[in-house]
Parts: sequence; C-alpha cells; structure tokens
Amino acid sequence: MTGSKNTITQYNTASTPITEQSHYNNTNSLTALTIEISNTNHEYLKKFLPVLLSHLQSLAATQGDQNPVLHRLHSHFLSLKEEIEMHIQKEELIIFPRIKELEKFYTGQSGKVIFSPTFLQAPATLMEQEHQQIEKTLSVIKELSNQYTPPPGACTSFEHTFSLLQTFEKNLLHHIEVENKILFPKALILFKKCQAMA
Ligand SMILES: [Fe+2]
Ligand SMILES: [Fe+2]
Repeated sequence: MTGSKNTITQYNTASTPITEQSHYNNTNSLTALTIEISNTNHEYLKKFLPVLLSHLQSLAATQGDQNPVLHRLHSHFLSLKEEIEMHIQKEELIIFPRIKELEKFYTGQSGKVIFSPTFLQAPATLMEQEHQQIEKTLSVIKELSNQYTPPPGACTSFEHTFSLLQTFEKNLLHHIEVENKILFPKALILFKKCQAMA
C-alpha cells in the first residue's frame, strides 16, 4: 500500500507528463515527437492506470455500501484502463513506427513506406475514433464522480483519489489533443509530400 501511495504522489506532482502544447507544436521531428509521447504520456499511463484502479477498487471495497457509485466508478475505470492499454499498444506497434519510416523516407534514409491509404490515413482515423471512445468513457467517470467532487465528510483517501482522477483526466485530454491536432495532421502532410517525391 505504501508503494502505491508513493507512486501516486510521484505521478501527481513532479512527474506529471503534461507539456505545453506549443512545445509539441514547435517540434520539427515527428520521430522525436513519437518518442516523447511514448516516453512521457504512455509511460505515465502504463504506470499510473493500475495504481489509480487499485485506489478505486479499495474505495469501492471499503465504502461501496455507503456510496454505491464507487462500484460503478471502479467498473468504468477498469473499462477505461483496458481501452487505453490496447490503444497505446496499437500506437506504439503500428502508427508510430510508420511515422518514423515516413520521416526516414523524407530525409533520404531508406524508409519503408507504402503509398496507400492503409499505411497512415486508415490507422490515424482509427486512432482518432478510439480517442473519441476513450473521451466518452472518461466523461461517464467525470459525471459519476460529480466532476471529481467528493461527498461531504469524505475521508482523505476518497478526496485524494478524486483529486488524482482529475489530474489524470487533464493529462489524458492533453495527450489526445497533441496526437489529434499535431502529430497525426503533421504526419498526413508529410505522407503527401513523400508521395509527391516518390
Ligand atoms: Fe498516445
Ligand atoms: Fe492516442
């Protein structure tokens, strides 16, 4: 229990992965951007999702009789965790390596690019659709938690978990925005440039 508390504190404060969007927007290398997203946003999710789930599980087990909404919160967060874990795996195994190959091609290093919509457009559209599903599940969690407001008289652990959930939402929405508004659109522009060069 102490270990998970330490991890939560670590990810709730100094290690929070939010970086200003202007920073991402000024990144010239898309390869560097995919590495940064993997090393900060994805690593944060891989480590923090199980920790937050275990806090919600513990709250539901100890206070779920008085606050049945805790059981629903735990169940929806479990779904969210599974959706996110599968999603980031697809990004790291499919679309991020393709963006790297595209950049190699553009800079004259033998990148392996297939000039078909299935190479980048289709996976980018799928990732954006998955982002929408993740945002839907997140909004259910937000509503169930009454916008992360603990009930009057809630214990410290309850308040702490809701505060962590709120930070988690902020980080996740920022991560999704960087991919939807910067990474994928820039990669699609690069794809068209490479297609014109081929
Ligand atoms: Fe991602
Ligand atoms: Fe994503």
